[in-house]
Amino acid sequence: MNLADLNKIALAMVASGKGILAADESSGTIKKRFDAIKVESTEQSRRDYREMLFRSSEAMRQYISGVILYDETIWQDAADGTPLVRLIEQSGAIPGIKVDEGTQALPGCPGELVTAGLDKLAERLKKYYERGARFAKWRAVIDIGEGTGGPGVPSMTAIHVNAHALARYAALCQAAQIVPIVEPEVLMDGGHDIDRCFDVTQRVLNKTFQELRVQRVALEGMILKPNMVISGKKCARQASVEEVAEKTIRLLKACVPAAVPGIAFLSGGQSDEDATAHLSAMNRLGGLNGNLPWQLTFSYGRALQAAPQKAWSGKAENVAAGQRAFTHRARMNSLASKGEWQADLEKKAA
Ligand code: 13P
Repeated sequence: MNLADLNKIALAMVASGKGILAADESSGTIKKRFDAIKVESTEQSRRDYREMLFRSSEAMRQYISGVILYDETIWQDAADGTPLVRLIEQSGAIPGIKVDEGTQALPGCPGELVTAGLDKLAERLKKYYERGARFAKWRAVIDIGEGTGGPGVPSMTAIHVNAHALARYAALCQAAQIVPIVEPEVLMDGGHDIDRCFDVTQRVLNKTFQELRVQRVALEGMILKPNMVISGKKCARQASVEEVAEKTIRLLKACVPAAVPGIAFLSGGQSDEDATAHLSAMNRLGGLNGNLPWQLTFSYGRALQAAPQKAWSGKAENVAAGQRAFTHRARMNSLASKGEWQADLEKKAA
């Protein structure tokens, strides 16, 4: 492992004013997204859609540091035969790859999940590196009891096995000279309040960093991708933007070592504008407090893609409109990553 090079890549992934496009939906998930815009999900429609994003040159050059790809996409070529990975590289962004293989039921823990994909991971990482991937992603999913699992959820077992798998994955990535994005996602589904989200996320992050240390992962060569501390979707009291920012920053300061170069949040089902407003408020707060030890940026899937998907709707004549919508969201989140977003910028664009 060359840690200096891993650190260089990690810093580039969170470069000022830039963030990550999570375009790594599995075939099942992208089908759901396409169903919503009435587009048939085929190998070609998935390629055309992603090619549209990667050819959005303003967004890709100015606001996007890296793109997380799904296995199918990393091997695909654009319509003119150029590998999609090359399009990303030509824009100056870094190609990355989702390497987890989704979740499975966790035996003995009803309603809870563990992420699969460690088998043969070392061999897969080698092939992805040769194809151009310089970072990877693995997502662990932690449900809060009021979501689907009931009381006693999350169990210590679920938190432990998921943290263990995240650290195993991260160590294998670094050995393959690939920067791991470590993503322990506490879901926002359910009626829990923001303080319960704080407590559960704290347990999850503490356990994750404990496992990362036990398995000798170099913190300088990784990126953390956490959820924000936020009210459950069905909670009657929705915390304000300021409260989300304050509690998220407080938690991260308590749990995330300064050696980690960057934190790139997931959007997790927040509205596009909420995800942007929260990120901007956190960066404003960080700046006011004499700066944070890590860069805070975005690694959004839905909050970057919902608008372009709708504008595109599977029609070749809408490619320019889809690219405009993507560029707008990428620019808003770029501003948020510097604490400079304001709501009226959204209205002006509309
Ligand atoms: P969302 O921003 O839609 O949560 O997706 C990010 C991601 O990569 C989930 O694993």
